[in-house]
Amino acid sequence: MRKKIVAGNWKMNTLPAEGVELAKNVVAGRGEVCSCVNFIVCPPFTHLSQVIDAVKGSDIAVGAQNCAAEAKGAYTGEVAASMIAALGCEYVILGHSERRQYYGETSETLNKKMAQAYANGLKPIYCVGENLDEREAGKHFDVVKAQIEEVVFNLTAEQFSQLVIAYEPVWAIGTGKTATAEQAQEIHAYIRKVLAGKFGAAAAECPILYGGSCKPSNAAEIFAKEDVDGGLIGGAALKAEDFLAIGKGFAK
Ligand code: 13P
Repeated sequence: MRKKIVAGNWKMNTLPAEGVELAKNVVAGRGEVCSCVNFIVCPPFTHLSQVIDAVKGSDIAVGAQNCAAEAKGAYTGEVAASMIAALGCEYVILGHSERRQYYGETSETLNKKMAQAYANGLKPIYCVGENLDEREAGKHFDVVKAQIEEVVFNLTAEQFSQLVIAYEPVWAIGTGKTATAEQAQEIHAYIRKVLAGKFGAAAAECPILYGGSCKPSNAAEIFAKEDVDGGLIGGAALKAEDFLAIGKGFAK
């Protein structure tokens, strides 16, 4: 059985005290949601440690939103995977479209970041997705295929077994425009097929999350699709009530 995951990418939002309160509210309401759902919260680096403390004793996992491509050294402003892991983080988001778009992350960089994540026991949540022009030109399948082949195909079978993939169409991120459940299913099934071409039966165990304007009102319909194993949530993860309500998209 594939893991069901609802992960919150807080992006560059919340001050430490707000983040701690948000995390505590998620813990407090968690019991209303099916225990089958694995919740992950991904705060900014600055309050990872406090959020980890705030969720201690619960089953809420914590992830970082990025890590450095290098192990350590003279890289001013970077945060190493080993530092994140030492705090008690379990996951790290890699290859988010905002990092690809605004910080020039390429497959080459991402291969190094993936290697750092695995070397330090972090499970990557690897993001793929096309932009609007690519979708309108019918190139979305080729775009996600390349993003997977160039990075995920370099993993060992053991590493792949720890991977989470998030399909996030750039045109749906923060726009209020969501992929339809059918569009999500179509490309998730395609992603799984591409993965199966390399990793065989193990592809059936890889959680593939949908991300892009996912909210309480549309989560259940999208999560009901066979190849959608949950969501990577941006805006709606900033309110515990909405984040938990998205988790309720999986029946208790
Ligand atoms: P929104 O849910 O705000 O559209 O963001 C999605 C996202 O980018 C999560 O990583």
